[in-house]
Amino acid sequence: MREFEVAKQAAKAGGDIIERYFREGVAMRTDKATYNLVSDADVESEKAIVDVIRREFPDHAVLGEESHHDDINAEHLWVIDPLDGTNNFAHKIPHFAISIAYYRSGEAVCGVIFNPIRKDWYEAKRGEGAFVNGEPARVSKHKMLDEVLIGVGFYYDRGAMMEATLAAIGDLFRSQIHGIRRFGTASLDMAQVGIGSFGAFFEYTLSPWDFAAGRLFAEEAGGNVTTCAGAPMPLTKTSLLASNGHLHQAVLDIVKQHLPD
Ligand code: IPD
Ligand code: CA
Ligand code: CA
Repeated sequence: MREFEVAKQAAKAGGDIIERYFREGVAMRTDKATYNLVSDADVESEKAIVDVIRREFPDHAVLGEESHHDDINAEHLWVIDPLDGTNNFAHKIPHFAISIAYYRSGEAVCGVIFNPIRKDWYEAKRGEGAFVNGEPARVSKHKMLDEVLIGVGFYYDRGAMMEATLAAIGDLFRSQIHGIRRFGTASLDMAQVGIGSFGAFFEYTLSPWDFAAGRLFAEEAGGNVTTCAGAPMPLTKTSLLASNGHLHQAVLDIVKQHLPD
């Protein structure tokens, strides 16, 4: 599939930029109101990714975190996070990724998540499965909360959303899970569900570029992805629960209860 090959080329182009900035260093800018970090690395990576895509598909729409906000209802839509895990990047933790998904008529067709430091590739095509570095990926088989690790993400909010997340984590711990992980890169968190490391992952607010590729990866690996209210995923800002399927209801019962309005 041409789109899949282009997604990989684009991720590599963005990854080269991110890797160079990671090694050489780059000034980070912080939005004091939202704690959201951004740098030239994010912006240049997005430009490189979109250049590759537009060269091949000049008519396709692009939704990118930094500077591309085309119509999400376009027939051909690329959803891009040029650097997911900016906070890790800023603090020299090599756990971040480029995330790219291609949607046709509102359905994810293929996606790639690329960690340019570890050179890890998480790839998925609708109906053809999920692969990690070329090997098939599969969610875990665990059916009980006391058998799994659960991943969590915190939106930049430090108010009700943060409190709700902490309350849900408390309830999960009281359900005897093995532990909570907050790795700081939503796309890779969903990849952890897809490779069976996390029984589930949830976050109360994510943007389309955070979850577009990760959602397809987790689903193609046999998982289930809904909002934290248990509804089908929209392609707008939303809460998200990704799981191995078996544990979906059990985790949903907890995260739904604390979901902020
Ligand atoms: C963030 C990361 C983080 C998640 C935040 C996202 P960014 O994306 O995915 O893990 O908790 O909600 O905004 O800002 O690093 O691209
Ligand atoms: Ca992101
Ligand atoms: Ca980002």
